[in-house]
Amino acid sequence: MAKSQISYSCNACGAVHSKWSGRCDGCGEWNTLSEDTGISAGPATAGLGKSRGSRMVLSDLSAREVPPARTNSGLAELDRVLGGGLVPASAILVGGDPGIGKSTLLLQAAASFARSGLKTIYVSGEEASAQVRMRAERLGLRDAPVQLAAETNLRDILTTIEAERPQLVIIDSIQTMWLDTIGSAPGSVSQVRAAAHELTSFAKRKGVSVVLVGHVTKDGQIAGPRVVEHMVDTVLYFEGERGHQFRILRAVKNRFGPADEIGVFEMTGGGLSEVTNPSALFLSERGKPSPGSVVFSGIEGTRPVLVELQALVAPSPHSQPRRAVVGWDGQRLAMILAVLESRCGIPFAGLDVYLNVAGGMKISEPAADLAVAAALLSAREDAALPAETVVFGEISLSGALRPVGQTENRLKEAAKLGFTAAIIPEGGKPGGDTGLRLTRATDLTSFVGDTFGAG
Ligand code: TYD
Ligand code: MG
Repeated sequence: MAKSQISYSCNACGAVHSKWSGRCDGCGEWNTLSEDTGISAGPATAGLGKSRGSRMVLSDLSAREVPPARTNSGLAELDRVLGGGLVPASAILVGGDPGIGKSTLLLQAAASFARSGLKTIYVSGEEASAQVRMRAERLGLRDAPVQLAAETNLRDILTTIEAERPQLVIIDSIQTMWLDTIGSAPGSVSQVRAAAHELTSFAKRKGVSVVLVGHVTKDGQIAGPRVVEHMVDTVLYFEGERGHQFRILRAVKNRFGPADEIGVFEMTGGGLSEVTNPSALFLSERGKPSPGSVVFSGIEGTRPVLVELQALVAPSPHSQPRRAVVGWDGQRLAMILAVLESRCGIPFAGLDVYLNVAGGMKISEPAADLAVAAALLSAREDAALPAETVVFGEISLSGALRPVGQTENRLKEAAKLGFTAAIIPEGGKPGGDTGLRLTRATDLTSFVGDTFGAG
């Protein structure tokens, strides 16, 4: 017989523990463990040998499979992030901070997909239908053939979907949904996990695409989207600074397309509008060349994107100087500072270091190393880099510069935006003739010497 057993799961990362503790071993967060109820431990393994299950259906790997017919929404930025449109019967999670614009994005997406011919239902567990309608009015979407419902009971939702047979269902948000078979409150790990499981398996069985909206929570009050990440085909995160108008939709997992693809939007009074040339947007606030500012030519998914890195280096009044970064990895910054100190003999001790990626963009590529080092040096030496120059390249712990992928695409994008020169690592592919004046460096020391004189 199935034995029920108490377990504890983390609201932040979903890790399951057999004992309660103040801190989650999985992610290191405090006070995020809560009791799982209603989840049975499954059949005792000892019994498995005796009872017979039914046989699985086996098929050949070589069996022919036709690629699914995708539907384009008409929102090109969204379609690209999905890997070229919506795949039927797929499950998608859209996570993001509260208030970042998830409901706005998905209402616009629902309207676009409905206009492209998909039967679409939008279920809001947070707002009344009237509120959603008012938002649609403001966004100019009142005439889109989207069906609305304000509901949180998953049993009723699934019954309705079964009867209506839509092709796309949007659940806003997964944290408000509850199953009457589970004792804990909506938003708890057990509820979120079970609701997501029901919805995704329903989607696969009935051929309905579902989009789950998930709030990212830092305080662990409600279960975060990481609990459901592994159940869905595609995980998109909607990022941006609340005070900034730019929003980035990023694919962090995609079974039907490249991960790391981004779509760029701008939040306006009339909803989200697509930004088709993100480089121009990210560089739009850039003034004259100034110390600490460097333009990095990066690759986001399949597309090159230029962004400005800004560094500030100032004498520290603290005994422990500050290292603050926004939009890049703090560990990687520490590594580059260490390489500059030990390989090039440029000390940063006693100096506060701040690094910011302009426009609310987040960069994870190691190709940004050289641009970061250039921004730090430029700030430290109070000397601006030559005007209209882009920089990219990876730095190794030895201080050597490594060539990075897609050199030609990076250079072409820079040329398109009016840049005339680039500083890149020696080696790798020549990069074609992009019309840019190329300065190549083999290691960080020679880069420092060439760019900032003696260094
Ligand atoms: P919302 O989509 O409700 O965020 P989420 O679902 O992620 O919690 O968006 C909330 C913010 O977006 C709100 O602060 C107002 C702003 N907004 C606009 O600036 N323009 C608009 O047209 C709309 C609908 C919202
Ligand atoms: Mg919302």
